[in-house]
Amino acid sequence: MFLFVLFISIFFTPFCLSVNRNDAPIIGVLAQELRSSRTSQRAYIAASYVKFLEAAGARVVPVMINQAPEEYKKLFNSINGILLPGGGVNITSSGYERAAKFFYELAIEANKREDYFPVWGTCLGFEQLIYLTSGKNLLTNTETSGLALPLNFTKEAKTSRIFQAFPAELMADLSSEPLTVNSHNWSLAVLTYNKNDELRKFYKVVSTNTDGNVEFVSTMEAYDYPIYGTQWHPEKNAFEWSRPYNPHSPSAIRTTFYMAEFLVSEARKNFHTFESKEEESKALIYNYNPIYTGTTGYFEQMYIF
Ligand SMILES: *[C@@H]1O[C@H](CO)[C@@H](O)[C@H](O)[C@H]1NC(C)=O
Ligand SMILES: *[C@@H]1O[C@H](CO)[C@@H](O)[C@H](O)[C@H]1NC(C)=O
Ligand SMILES: *[C@@H]1O[C@H](CO)[C@@H](O)[C@H](O)[C@H]1NC(C)=O
Repeated sequence: MFLFVLFISIFFTPFCLSVNRNDAPIIGVLAQELRSSRTSQRAYIAASYVKFLEAAGARVVPVMINQAPEEYKKLFNSINGILLPGGGVNITSSGYERAAKFFYELAIEANKREDYFPVWGTCLGFEQLIYLTSGKNLLTNTETSGLALPLNFTKEAKTSRIFQAFPAELMADLSSEPLTVNSHNWSLAVLTYNKNDELRKFYKVVSTNTDGNVEFVSTMEAYDYPIYGTQWHPEKNAFEWSRPYNPHSPSAIRTTFYMAEFLVSEARKNFHTFESKEEESKALIYNYNPIYTGTTGYFEQMYIF
């Protein structure tokens, strides 16, 4: 029996799975309600998140909103991580929130069983993580809707996982040049974080920023889980052009790449796979075509479902 199992597992192990690294990671990107069409149940993903992950060697599967729990569970066991993108939906009641909660809870359980499953939140996704971890809406209104800022690294940044592989020169640029795009009206104030036990025990604050009045958390990572959040947008520097404050300097572009590189390297530690190659092909984002929305919209290209 043992030999049989060994034979089966050797036979079916694809070439791309080395002993402890998955060189064909597939990351889910969560869709969200299109604001202009609340009644028609349409949803979208900004293409920049897809390009962000693809640039660092991952493939992408869209995670649709309003699916059945069994569907989400099956998908969770097929992908190697999930990205909760920025956007504008309700973080306490929306299809985005319900799906994010489902994957967040499955990820916590999986990681407890040593099934390493990364969860990444960008902007709205960051705010969603704060809500999921604390169970409360703890955000503060800030004047941060549309500007690029340098990061104010905390002392703990030195021991952070996110920035470990960043070149020293890029870290210096990140802390002195406006390379991180902020496009949010709500933030987690450092004062709020300091007063909340759940958040303090769960997340290490890696960087902060201020709007002049409120100091807020801009980068965080969970102490005991591969769960990460940036209030800023690493994907925009290389892939979004519709706003004058999106920085495109060489260091800005490297910031996009190194952030993606980190997240994808986390996903390579997960070994979930689809049940078959056919299931995998059917799920990939390649089945959908992005449309060019940059002339009128906020995003250069969008997938609309
Ligand atoms: C989000 O939804 C909740 C529950 O329906 C509601 O109370 C809250 O006002 C909404 N928040 C926003 C920002 O619309
Ligand atoms: C950086 O953070 C420190 C404390 O965390 C704060 O005292 C300082 O004012 C911040 N600097 C900027 C430019 O935000
Ligand atoms: C912030 O709020 C202002 C005023 O309501 C709005 O015009 C802007 O689009 C909002 N920004 C973001 C990023 O949600």
